[in-house]
Amino acid sequence: MLIGPFTQLLTMASLPLRGPITDDQLEIIPDAGIVVRNGCIVEVGSFAELRIRYAEKKLVPVERNLVAFPGMIDAHTHLCWAGSRAADYALRLSGKSYLEIATAGGGILDTVRKTRAATSDELVQLTLQRANLLLSRGITTIEVKSGYGLTVHHELKILEAIADANRQTAADLVPTCLAAHVVPPEYKKGSVVSEEEYLTVLLNELLPEVKRRNLASRVDVFIEKGAFSEAAARYYLQAARDRGFDLVIHGDQFTAGAAAVANDLHALSIDHLEAAGAKEITTLAQGSTIAVALPGASLGLGEPFAPARKLLDADNALAIASDWNPGSAPMGNLLAQAAILGAAQQLSTAEVWAAITYRAAAALKLGDRGKLQKGMKADIIAFQTNDYREVLYRQGELRPSIVIKNGKMLTINTKQL
Ligand code: NIG
Ligand code: FE
Repeated sequence: MLIGPFTQLLTMASLPLRGPITDDQLEIIPDAGIVVRNGCIVEVGSFAELRIRYAEKKLVPVERNLVAFPGMIDAHTHLCWAGSRAADYALRLSGKSYLEIATAGGGILDTVRKTRAATSDELVQLTLQRANLLLSRGITTIEVKSGYGLTVHHELKILEAIADANRQTAADLVPTCLAAHVVPPEYKKGSVVSEEEYLTVLLNELLPEVKRRNLASRVDVFIEKGAFSEAAARYYLQAARDRGFDLVIHGDQFTAGAAAVANDLHALSIDHLEAAGAKEITTLAQGSTIAVALPGASLGLGEPFAPARKLLDADNALAIASDWNPGSAPMGNLLAQAAILGAAQQLSTAEVWAAITYRAAAALKLGDRGKLQKGMKADIIAFQTNDYREVLYRQGELRPSIVIKNGKMLTINTKQL
């Protein structure tokens, strides 16, 4: 079929994986059409020309005044959770810190209690609702982490729920095992925390089962005070890599240091980086690890943003993700957050769109999306405007009126959660 005409179409083609991008590097096709077959893009170009060359194709006309982009990719979420942490949020507003709340038994462990108590079916429904909400807002690929179970049984329950939701939503969910989120209370005796003991259980009992059931190909660990030490994380990640998993890291959120681990172990991405300084930025630039900024966590916690401008200027690949979770990043609006980070860090329009399309795809090791060009998945979104710059300018309030996933036009359900 031939879809169009779009007033403008941003292909995101021929742009670099790493480093700064200026807006004049963007390929913008005016009055554009897209030819789609079997869920993939056959050709993009001038609508009038394609109409002649593909005269036999079914025409899918669209409204006037639409600007098309690749479907957005959210490379970091925790959207499989139960309960609410509004109480934590209120405590933070009255001056308690995220780490203080966590130490007092709130924080991540509060969500763990509620997620453990939820049935599989409840978790599937919660995940599905959230994924479909994101899809209606133009996010066609969504990474989803486990990490609120923290036992072999509950982590498998969560990963199964994500797999089940993935079968039911048109969005693509990319699962990640974050069983090493924090050490569960069962492994804390007084002030003694047995992180090695817990990680050994994960390596011997959980990861083989995750592999056998094909529930995730990615393993994540949170390196931070109150979570996992650098040394324990290295040991765990190395062993996970030996078992064939790709590695990702929550790191440099409050304390720097994890960037070196990411670089040494060739992690696919290191996410957070709010505390990354010159040393971490240089370290990352020497390797292949993608830097993922999570502005939603900065907004949720009232913390500084990751040094996105400096990361790009040092020739890093920068993706932006929502980190949607009930604790640090309760908003979950990737487009709004990317626009706000862009304003705060002086990222060009091109850099922001790269960070939520093909650079985010690279963080997920997905080579088949994030650009509108031949051979890519037909994941396409379009906004009611004549100027591509209008989308970030509206800071998330302008939402796509067309979402196409794998070549299928979706009906946008505006029902909010
Ligand atoms: O990415 N930093 C650690 N983990 C999550 C927060 C999870 C939570 O607070 O529930 C994050 O910010
Ligand atoms: Fe996170």
